[in-house]
Amino acid sequence: MPKAGLFVTMEGIEGCGKSTQARLLSAHLQARSIECILTREPGGTRIGDLVRGILLDPKHADMSPRGELLLYAAARAQHVDSIIRPALQEGKVVVCDRYTDSTVAYQGYGLGIDVEIVKSINTIATDRLFPHLTFVFDLEPELGLRRKFGDAVTSSLDADRIEQRTLPYHARVRRGYAKIAEEHPERVTVIDAAQSAEAIHQAVLQHTEDRRALLAGTR
Ligand SMILES: Nc1ncnc2c1ncn2[C@@H]1O[C@H](COP(=O)(O)OP(=O)(O)OP(=O)(O)O)[C@@H](O)[C@H]1O
Ligand SMILES: [Mg+2]
Repeated sequence: MPKAGLFVTMEGIEGCGKSTQARLLSAHLQARSIECILTREPGGTRIGDLVRGILLDPKHADMSPRGELLLYAAARAQHVDSIIRPALQEGKVVVCDRYTDSTVAYQGYGLGIDVEIVKSINTIATDRLFPHLTFVFDLEPELGLRRKFGDAVTSSLDADRIEQRTLPYHARVRRGYAKIAEEHPERVTVIDAAQSAEAIHQAVLQHTEDRRALLAGTR
C-alpha cells in the first residue's frame, strides 16, 4: 500500500447497495492484509452519531433545510478530523459509506439548496479532504426503497426522516448523482446497481486496484 492512504466513498440513493459494497470491499482488503477502516456518514464518531440521531429522527419533520445541511457538515468535520485524515496519514485505505456527494445530491439537488453553497459548506466541513475514488451505485429509487422495505415501500413505519421523503425527491437525488459524476469523471465511477452484489463487487475491486496502482505511480 502506498503511503498517504486511499480514500474511497460509496454513494447513491437509499437501498442501492452502498453498505453491502463497503463491507465487501473492506473485508477483501483486510483479507489481503491491507490496512483498511470502514466508516459511515452521518456518524463515524461519538459526536457524529449523536448528530446522526437528530438528523434521522422522524420526529424532527420541521427541521429547516439549512439546519439539516449544517448538521451534516458538523458531523463531517468531526469525522474528518478524528477518523478519516488520521487513518489516511497512517497510509490506510478508508472506505466511507456516504460523504460529501450525499450532501450535494440530497440537500442540494434533492431539497433545492444552491449547489454552490452546499459545495462551499463541504469545503469547510472537510478542510478540503476529498476522496480519491467514489462509487455511485445507480438504481431506480422505487427498486432501492423496495429492497429496503419490501412492498410497503415509503409507507413503512420504520423509515427514517430522509427515507420518508417522496419518490420524486429520491428521483431528483438520483439525477443529482448523475450530474456529480458528469462533473468529476476522474473521481466518480457509476455502476449499475441492478446487477448482482457479487458482480458489483468485482467492478468495485477492479476500479479500486486501478486507482491504487495509479496513486502508487504518482507518489
Ligand atoms: N446488488 C444487489 N441486488 C439485490 N439486493 C441487494 C444488492 N445489494 C444489496 N442488496 C440488498 O438490498 C438491501 C439494501 O442494501 P444496502 O443496505 O447495502 O443499501 P444501502 O445503499 O446501504 O442502503 P441505505 O441507503 O439504507 O444505507 C439489503 O437488504 C441488501 O442485502
Ligand atoms: Mg447503508
